Amino acid sequence: MDDLAEANKSNQDTINMGGGSPFPIKASREVYTSLFQELANSRAEIEKLYGQYSAPAGNQETRDKLAGYLRKKFGWNVSSEHVAVTNGNQAALFVLFNMLGGPNESAERNEILFPLIPEYVGYQNLLLPGLKVRAPKPSIQILNDHLFEYRVDFSRIQVTEKTAAVCLSQPSNPAGKIHSETDLKKLDYISNEKGAPLIIDSAYGAPFPNIIFSECPPYWSENTILLLSLSKLGLPGLRSGLIVASPERIAAFSKFSTSLNLAPNSIGAHILTELVSRGAIDHLCSQTICNFYQEKIAFASSKLISSLADTPCRLHHMGGGFFIWLWCEHLPFLGRELYSRLKTKGVVVAPGEEFFLGLEPDWSHGRECIRISCALPDTQLNVGIELIADEIVDAYR
Ligand SMILES: Cc1ncc(COP(=O)(O)O)c(C=O)c1O
Repeated sequence: MDDLAEANKSNQDTINMGGGSPFPIKASREVYTSLFQELANSRAEIEKLYGQYSAPAGNQETRDKLAGYLRKKFGWNVSSEHVAVTNGNQAALFVLFNMLGGPNESAERNEILFPLIPEYVGYQNLLLPGLKVRAPKPSIQILNDHLFEYRVDFSRIQVTEKTAAVCLSQPSNPAGKIHSETDLKKLDYISNEKGAPLIIDSAYGAPFPNIIFSECPPYWSENTILLLSLSKLGLPGLRSGLIVASPERIAAFSKFSTSLNLAPNSIGAHILTELVSRGAIDHLCSQTICNFYQEKIAFASSKLISSLADTPCRLHHMGGGFFIWLWCEHLPFLGRELYSRLKTKGVVVAPGEEFFLGLEPDWSHGRECIRISCALPDTQLNVGIELIADEIVDAYR
């Protein structure tokens, strides 16, 4: 994965389809830049933001505004006590995993269960020694000649007294999987029965940035911990996000988080408060951000499907996010080899096996997959997809 950063840095000609950076969409940049300009013009406001630590759970106005927004939009019974400001989902997940499953009095709860893999590769680096991952195989549903979908295989899901949390990303990174409300309810129920929360990492999901290509409101219950991030709104540099959970879990989170961060970032929280207060957030997500990525995905997937029509390759059903997850069944060599061959042609993708956290290495499926980011300018996207398709067609010859 270090190659992904290298590709950005060292070689301007490399088409980097391997990373998770959002595209700097012009219309959303306009909105953010003018908010920053307004802020710079208000000396008292900006001095307060950079000159003071915020409270451990974040500034009260942001917590109030977000709780009000969630009550109004989804009818959730939440107050500011259910909300905390974070320094982004990565930092929040580090706190949550180790708070819920790290060394504790009984040392009993020490497993994080991922009910459906492939999952976000960044979860792997969050577990301190002693914490384990459990990630049962999903089932694979063939949808048609070009598409497939992973499904949670409930016959393999075992939530036990050792389970510290059940965690998934929605839509998933890398596959763009959307879990149905029925499956989420079921996962929530079996987690709650054993005293474990269901963590839903909504880095790409609802209510923002809401890069979801169907009507899919966010799921929440008192047993859920919902993570929201500003990164895929186009603000990854602000390192900012929020969690929504029961007041008890918010209090525990803030206490643990204070040891690590002292206080969360105030600037990101301020920008989000403004977007919510002005009623701009929904329009920004649905009209600007989601449409932008949906067009990219539609273009790249139809080009890939037609170029790979004579191969056994299939794409995962694209429910949301900005990746294409490609499965090259019976690929004559491993996905890592495909990754290396593509790299020499000037395209970087993410090899699939890295996303199969904790799974026994005997399942060859992961080695037949790659993740392709579509957050690129049109010309690069077009050339990148062409190079990928040519290499794969060649491989099957
Ligand atoms: C599924 C998922 N969770 C969390 C993160 C980290 O998000 P943040 O930038 O808010 O730390 C990412 C980043 O790509 C992600 O894809």
